[in-house]
Amino acid sequence: MKEILLLHGPNLNALGRRDPEIYPRITLPELEARVRAWAGERRWGLRAFQSNSEGALIDALQEAAEWAAGALVNLGALTHSSYALHDALLDLSRPVIEVHLSAISQREPWRRVSVIRPACRGFVEGRGVEGYRLALDLLAAAVAEDEEGER
Ligand code: DQA
Repeated sequence: MKEILLLHGPNLNALGRRDPEIYPRITLPELEARVRAWAGERRWGLRAFQSNSEGALIDALQEAAEWAAGALVNLGALTHSSYALHDALLDLSRPVIEVHLSAISQREPWRRVSVIRPACRGFVEGRGVEGYRLALDLLAAAVAEDEEGER
């Protein structure tokens, strides 16, 4: 069975009480359960991890190289600044889809920049929880494309 990584960065553990004007009122465990169920519909397993620390996120990506078919990542504010996470995503050498609950392209100017995007095969923003389902579709397409290429 294929397994994918669902990786969340800083402050996403605060979902549920975080700025309700911008973020959906769902807790991170509830969101992870939702994505796990959607992955299950594809017969994919899911391992979820969240950290507020950049180093722990990099460690998780390095470890995922051993088992993951791909990853969905919402790296929170590190999206806009972390070249180290960009490099870790590249090094993973598996399809990665960048997801954001909010529409980062319509928020503050600094938030419109994603430094991890060049290391990702697709991105979804501003679709709330449903965005993770769309991201799974994009991930499935990228995984299938790579498998096709290997044949
Ligand atoms: C976020 C957007 C980021 O700018 C912010 O720092 C987050 C959440 C989103 O899901 O919309 O923590 O990644």
